[in-house]
Amino acid sequence: MHARRRGSRSLLRHRALRPTVAVARYIVFAALALHDYPRQAVDLRDADDDALELFAHEVRRFYPFFPFVAAIVRRNFTWRGYEFEEGTRTLLDLYGTNRDPRVWDAPDTFRPERFRDWDESPFNFIPQDGGDFLHNHRCAGEWITKELMEAAVDFLVHSIDYEVPAQDLSVDLSRMPAIPASCFRITNVRRVH
Ligand code: HEM
Repeated sequence: MHARRRGSRSLLRHRALRPTVAVARYIVFAALALHDYPRQAVDLRDADDDALELFAHEVRRFYPFFPFVAAIVRRNFTWRGYEFEEGTRTLLDLYGTNRDPRVWDAPDTFRPERFRDWDESPFNFIPQDGGDFLHNHRCAGEWITKELMEAAVDFLVHSIDYEVPAQDLSVDLSRMPAIPASCFRITNVRRVH
């Protein structure tokens, strides 16, 4: 009984609490996007929930929080002429796929509106792994991630005013998970409602 409770606590910690806390990093990148693209912040003030969703999608597409996932090949197979041998460590390039110019128009431009025409393929937009979460490895908490980000962005654009002091907002692409060097410090925070 106790062992089962301990087991379910550990499952909760690893499968729910830890990844939920990790969403804070995406929220840092969302705040960075509002700072880097101030026009977006102005537009979001008068926008509907759809616009928040498009913005959250684009933050996850554009910023390199979780750049790749690793796996070991279980059985030999060939994919598009590439041989995958059992036991080989492979990397799926999440960041590269999300910015692949064969899929995304002007991939290095931050443009949430692009998601209005997105075909909803589970294989081209893969910030939290690809495929379907029921049958493949795609993140089971993607919808929670999205909801948390939308709530945070809504709060940042509607409920508070703040200043962004000088700091180092560069992102080291060799760091995983990535984050701006100074995280994202804000000062002079005031409630607006
Ligand atoms: C910071 C946001 C998040 C990122 C970047 C992320 C990323 C990922 C990735 C890449 C995988 C696939 C791992 C693999 O290939 O084996 C995954 C799986 C998973 N994620 Fe997330 N995740 C996030 C948030 C969440 C949240 C908030 C939850 C739940 C509260 C969650 C629950 C899960 C679960 C249960 C799996 C395992 C799915 C399976 O093995 O079939 N994740 N996540």
